[in-house]
Amino acid sequence: MTNTYDFGLIGLGVMGRNFILNVADNGFAAYGNDLDEEKVNALIEEGGDMDKVNATTDAATFVNGLSTPRKIMLLVPAGKIVDAVIESLLPLLEEGDIIIDGGNSFFTDTDRREAYLAGKGINFFGAGVSGGAKGARLGPSIMPGGNREAYQHVKPIFEAVSAKYKGEPCVAYLGPKSAGNYVKMVHNGIEYGLMQLTSEIYDVLKKGGDFSNTELHTIFSTWNSGRLQSFLVEITSEIFEQKDDLAGGQLVDKILDKAKQKGTGKWTSQNAMDLGIPVPSIDIAVSMREISALKGERIMADALYDRPKVEKMDKKKLGKLSEEALYFSFIITYAQGLHQLGDASKEYDYDLNISEIAKIWRAGCIIRAGLLADITEAFKADRSLPNLLLSPTFVEKVQGTVDAARELVAYGVKNGIPLPGLSNSLTYFDAYTATRLPLNLIQAQRDYFGSHTYERSDREGIFHTEWEA
Ligand code: 6PG
Repeated sequence: MTNTYDFGLIGLGVMGRNFILNVADNGFAAYGNDLDEEKVNALIEEGGDMDKVNATTDAATFVNGLSTPRKIMLLVPAGKIVDAVIESLLPLLEEGDIIIDGGNSFFTDTDRREAYLAGKGINFFGAGVSGGAKGARLGPSIMPGGNREAYQHVKPIFEAVSAKYKGEPCVAYLGPKSAGNYVKMVHNGIEYGLMQLTSEIYDVLKKGGDFSNTELHTIFSTWNSGRLQSFLVEITSEIFEQKDDLAGGQLVDKILDKAKQKGTGKWTSQNAMDLGIPVPSIDIAVSMREISALKGERIMADALYDRPKVEKMDKKKLGKLSEEALYFSFIITYAQGLHQLGDASKEYDYDLNISEIAKIWRAGCIIRAGLLADITEAFKADRSLPNLLLSPTFVEKVQGTVDAARELVAYGVKNGIPLPGLSNSLTYFDAYTATRLPLNLIQAQRDYFGSHTYERSDREGIFHTEWEA
């Protein structure tokens, strides 16, 4: 059984098991490895045919069982475990072998690993994999970055197992080094933004229009057949139908309103700050998860302050405003994330093709949405488009929905319903589209108290004024 399997996978948790079965289903003999014997046996049993999919707890047997150059994917928790697995593999590998990290690793860790392994003749890929357990089994969106030539060995397998959008695989070589991990990180930042926006719309429909869970199911499902068509809107509609087996009623009402996070949204925000690219719709989504976690304090504060009595809005009107505002803010959130990718591409020499990225997000991943087909076209028409808001095809879409966003945000403000994702999206839009902002005053203040100098709008040069106290 030496050198027979086409593809190796380490980490047979839910994602790993599903991914390897997907590889085997697509005609590639796959070999799994995990220290946990139960997981190894479970995979062998589920796989059925050991020539197609097999597994072992022994690393040397595993490595020897793979055809060369070996293609070994790691689906293990991000962080130190990735380094430990790499170290344990190294003595067993040969020059030219390929390791693919399929987890949500931080991009600078991927850069470090890639450089370290390149020095040993091993090709290392950071490949974001999106779509959850179901995606891994039936077709995820895959975002690989690393050595372009080495990718040719992985390409046929990834193209076969990935999701397909109208027959086109949702995977593409994205760029060198950590390009794949970086793109996946921003994917997740956008995911946080879209989820926050969806939850706000749920809140305003419920509080402002007394929408029942059944009505919420219906309205989200109707939206999912229109321009808001997306995985997140689809699952949201399904969530409102889910019964609670434990206590009866609807499950959504029993779920504690404290959102957890593993950190990828926060990394997106942090790195956007480092790059100097504004992504307020993503920032606020991270902050809202943090506010949600302060449940005890929120309860105490609620008892201290009054909030306005909600003035109900006509259901039909509220539904229409909500659809338009959600569409508007979805566009703004994608615009921010893609803006960040454009800048990161220059900063880190990724040479990203945003159109290609939008293309591989059209199916398989968590942020897949009908909108991505238009986004793909917008960046195809102009590869150097700095921001989606500057795309002629998006002007009409945004212009046609911004008034609804204004009205809904104003309604939320007046009635004490927090809509921070929507209002941050709107404020971003109002600021990004303003020729003149009041930040001349900030420059004046900086120069006043710290002699930080300023530029002028009427002539070239750097100026400083001795401000009169
Ligand atoms: C995906 C997801 C996935 C992510 C989860 C949870 O693309 O399949 O982005 O990678 O880990 O969505 O993320 P949080 O725990 O941070 O919400």
